[in-house]
Amino acid sequence: MKPGEAIKEKKIRGKKVIFRVPTQNDWKQLWENYNLVITGTEFMGMETPVKPEDTKKWISKTLDSLKEKKLVIVSAEVDGRLVGNCDITKEELEVKKHTGHLGVYVIAGYRNMGIGTELIKIAMEEAKKIGIEVVTLDVVAENKTARDIYKKCGFKIVGEIEKGYKRKSGYQDMIVMMKHL
Ligand SMILES: CC(C)(COP(=O)(O)OP(=O)(O)OC[C@H]1O[C@@H](n2cnc3c(N)ncnc32)[C@H](O)[C@@H]1OP(=O)(O)O)[C@@H](O)C(=O)NCCC(=O)NCCS
Repeated sequence: MKPGEAIKEKKIRGKKVIFRVPTQNDWKQLWENYNLVITGTEFMGMETPVKPEDTKKWISKTLDSLKEKKLVIVSAEVDGRLVGNCDITKEELEVKKHTGHLGVYVIAGYRNMGIGTELIKIAMEEAKKIGIEVVTLDVVAENKTARDIYKKCGFKIVGEIEKGYKRKSGYQDMIVMMKHL
């Protein structure tokens, strides 16, 4: 995977969706999208909006890690706009480097079109190529849409951590899921 590389194109509901690796120049859209999702749902790992400079640093570090085959990342582009993203990042511990943690989002207005499912499938195919054998993820227990698509993609629930997330609005239980690639 290389920055900007197109991995797949698919027509979804008459729209051309390009699944591609993001580039450093995409930082602004990635920043806007991430903040839209974290402020629009209570299902993400952050709840305080991220600063533009933090996203610039994050994408730069992410593209370095991509080069070092420490992660895979794929975005979905519709009409020239990024609308979703999925990454799988290898664990750092020596004996866990064959496992990767998955994160995914699609911005409101582009959901329920199959983009999230496609992003996960592509990320898993690419993860295999860099030696990831086991994918893990965690999801807010009430996030039925996400749990359903993970199940559809072959993930199984392996645990539940009560009060695993603590937000300004209170605790949420965390479901842990995994899949062997
Ligand atoms: C979870 C998320 C990534 C899914 O992306 P998406 O592009 O909408 O996913 P898809 O279109 O591929 O699939 C959605 C599926 O959920 C189903 N669905 C939608 N709303 C639903 C609901 N309220 N309850 C149950 N199922 C629902 C759809 O019918 C579809 O299933 P199908 O493919 O069998 O028809 C997206 O909703 C999102 O970004 N949510 C906010 C952030 C988030 O929760 N990220 C995951 C954190 S772990």
